[in-house]
Amino acid sequence: MPKLPLPPSLVGSEIGSFTEYTVTQRMPAIARRVIVENKFSQEINIRLESLAKELPIGCLPPLMNDTGRDFSAWDTYLEPYQGQRWIDVPWFFAETYFYRLILEITHYFRPGIWQSIDPFQLQKSQGLEASIDSVILLCKQVNKWLDDFQIEGISNQTALITLLYFALWGNRVDLSLWSAFESDRSQFDIQSQLAHILVNDVLKVSELLTTNHGGRIDFIVDNAGFELICDLCLVDFLLSSNLANQVYLHLKPHPTFVSDAMIKDVHDTTSFLLANNDPQVKSCSQRLENYISSGNLVLSEDYFWTSPLAFWEMPNYLQDELAKARLLVVKGDANYRRLLGDRHWEITANIADIICYLPTPMVALRTLKSEVAVGLQPEVVEKVAKSDPSWLTNGQWGVIQFVA
Ligand code: F6P
Ligand code: MG
Repeated sequence: MPKLPLPPSLVGSEIGSFTEYTVTQRMPAIARRVIVENKFSQEINIRLESLAKELPIGCLPPLMNDTGRDFSAWDTYLEPYQGQRWIDVPWFFAETYFYRLILEITHYFRPGIWQSIDPFQLQKSQGLEASIDSVILLCKQVNKWLDDFQIEGISNQTALITLLYFALWGNRVDLSLWSAFESDRSQFDIQSQLAHILVNDVLKVSELLTTNHGGRIDFIVDNAGFELICDLCLVDFLLSSNLANQVYLHLKPHPTFVSDAMIKDVHDTTSFLLANNDPQVKSCSQRLENYISSGNLVLSEDYFWTSPLAFWEMPNYLQDELAKARLLVVKGDANYRRLLGDRHWEITANIADIICYLPTPMVALRTLKSEVAVGLQPEVVEKVAKSDPSWLTNGQWGVIQFVA
């Protein structure tokens, strides 16, 4: 549990908040997009449309037993909120239940023609294809760093720090605004990105990683697509330069939050890269596939990651697993919200007084897409709020926050 007393949860009924906008407008739009992007039956589409209509005004429907392994757990999670409106229940609960309901409605778990159909597959595939030019440049750069490292024995700090920045900005909301590469020099322009990092503990992280080599590093992964490729490049570098002996990726056991990565998405990503004609891309993906086969890269899934629980409610067996890592890398906005229980903390609260329950040091790499943040200096808040009124939610600002 956090050391500080728990403030209230974010809820959709907060008038004018991004939370309200998400529950009443963004979530219905996501349900309708599932209709448009798939060829589900009319019966399924009618239920999706009715879910979309209910979100702004209606109550949570019960979950039908759809043979999903998490069904009975959801029965327990739902108990306190039965009969309540979507906008009145904690926002993180509303979102996780919404995605779980989409799977029940689309027969994701039921044996039959729709079983295991990812309702968000189209967006995941498009995400991969859209980023290929940046991916080629990134792979080229990783290969160069690894060659330099082996040939000249140069320090791996620069490479590591740059890849941590990539892992951060891969989480950016609008990748079309991506300016990480200057097209003429194929170089990562760190300076232009630094000004958008509101808390930057990157040196603490690189120091931890380079002072002791080897050991295990765990990632709580976020999105498939370009973000996952950036994460995988970091993983490749950690393993190939012996900064880690083993990396665990903690992935979602079923589709959720549209783009969140599952084990099959990692395989799809390495196959997609392997199929590319560019030798630089091929060699990165070949190394990754070898690491998966050799057990140096472990792909792990657990239903806790798709549950509505805060990270401090993590079951003991998972805590014990994470305790084996010397660093936990927590990716993205929704995972950051879970670290904080998706609550209204003071924005200047000390992060270590809240995230004090993990069994190992952690770094959060997150761009801000929701009105939840801690650990910011008052002067930083004042400055960014003046320069960008939607800084908390537009995904253009990032944090690299380390808790030892
Ligand atoms: O906060 C807005 C939102 O769309 C949430 O639904 C969710 O927390 C998040 O963004 C998803 O972003 P990420 O993929 O970075 O977790
Ligand atoms: Mg996500």
